[in-house]
Amino acid sequence: MTTLFDQLERPLRDLRISVTDRCNFRCTYCMPKEVFGPAYQFLQRDDLLTYEEITRLARIFVAHGVEKIRLTGGEPLVRRDLPRLIEGLSVIPGLKDLTLTTNGSLLRRQAQALGEAGLKRITVSLDALDDAVFQRMNDVGVSVSQVLDGIEAAREAGLTPIKVNAVIERGVNDEGMVELARHFKGTGIILRFIEFMDVGNTNGWNLERVVPLREMAERIGRELPIEPAEANYRGEVAKRWRYLDGTGEVGFISSISQPFCGECTRARLSPEGELFTCLFAAHGHDFRSLLRNGSDDAGIAAFLKNVWRLREDRYSEIRGEATVGLERVEMSHIGG
Ligand code: GTP
Ligand code: 5AD
Ligand code: SF4
Ligand code: SF4
Repeated sequence: MTTLFDQLERPLRDLRISVTDRCNFRCTYCMPKEVFGPAYQFLQRDDLLTYEEITRLARIFVAHGVEKIRLTGGEPLVRRDLPRLIEGLSVIPGLKDLTLTTNGSLLRRQAQALGEAGLKRITVSLDALDDAVFQRMNDVGVSVSQVLDGIEAAREAGLTPIKVNAVIERGVNDEGMVELARHFKGTGIILRFIEFMDVGNTNGWNLERVVPLREMAERIGRELPIEPAEANYRGEVAKRWRYLDGTGEVGFISSISQPFCGECTRARLSPEGELFTCLFAAHGHDFRSLLRNGSDDAGIAAFLKNVWRLREDRYSEIRGEATVGLERVEMSHIGG
């Protein structure tokens, strides 16, 4: 196994694979309806990497230091026969962690099969416990109870530890933070609050709608006392805080107020086989052409080495004047 290092001495360790750019939600902060409407051109079937192509790439990445793979979308569970991909990935020697991020709406039907295929654990997005607020955010009328039932199905299928992600937008769902925390406290499910980010070009982001980590922790701590805890591993995205009464932890993902680029070991593969070296990159590197022009594994590995070696992304650290007008890939395309 070789480890690749970039220009800032960061190793390649995580691969996030987006399996589709489609989603059955239209979260206002991610796929606003005005942009992702009936006329929106999603990728066609032939554009997508096949499961065989994804698995082949994943093997090469793991041989070059990747230890953790996360499947994302869009919504990964809308792609047909996903367990077949998981079966292929789960047997890659050297892969330590295999997980998936989902909106949870289709989990009841699929959790068991995902677990049997070799998925280890799961992360579910849920932004509010109040139905009116949640439905305003997902914009397709899916209820809170449907997602909670999906989480329960994941638990029954042994996809643990389960994490729940809540994106917090001021004036939209910030009043529900404490209710969310209270709901998951003591359940073993790890809730993480995410600062609203300026991903993509369509979500109408502005700084006033970001609730910074410091304020989130303060508002939750007032009701449910918490204190900072150590990271589980170097480069962990979420900052961990624990409840003083010993009933578990919550996390905060603070890309805006406390960027974590210095430890960023993540690469992102888009559904059509482009590798993005940053969540905020405008363009990816085309691996699909190599897969389809007969390149051997050594050729693909050489391309990967070169891409990673030249990497110098640190968008969140330089965010500001310099990044305002920049073109960025859509979150729904590379899965956060
Ligand atoms: P685990 O620690 O394995 O649970 O993974 P994780 O913390 O990476 O969790 P997850 O993949 O659920 O990431 C949570 C959210 O953090 C994502 O959906 C993004 O919104 C954000 N995020 C993850 N990685 C990055 C990153 O590299 N840069 C930025 N700016 N945000 C990120
Ligand atoms: N800011 C922060 N997080 C976001 N996500 C999607 N869009 C944004 C945004 N603009 C989160 C989703 C999900 C994960 C894939 O990314 O809620 O948890
Ligand atoms: Fe779909 Fe997730 Fe984006 Fe919401 S945040 S629209 S569930 S991909
Ligand atoms: Fe990594 Fe880019 Fe996020 Fe920084 S902004 S942590 S470099 S993905």
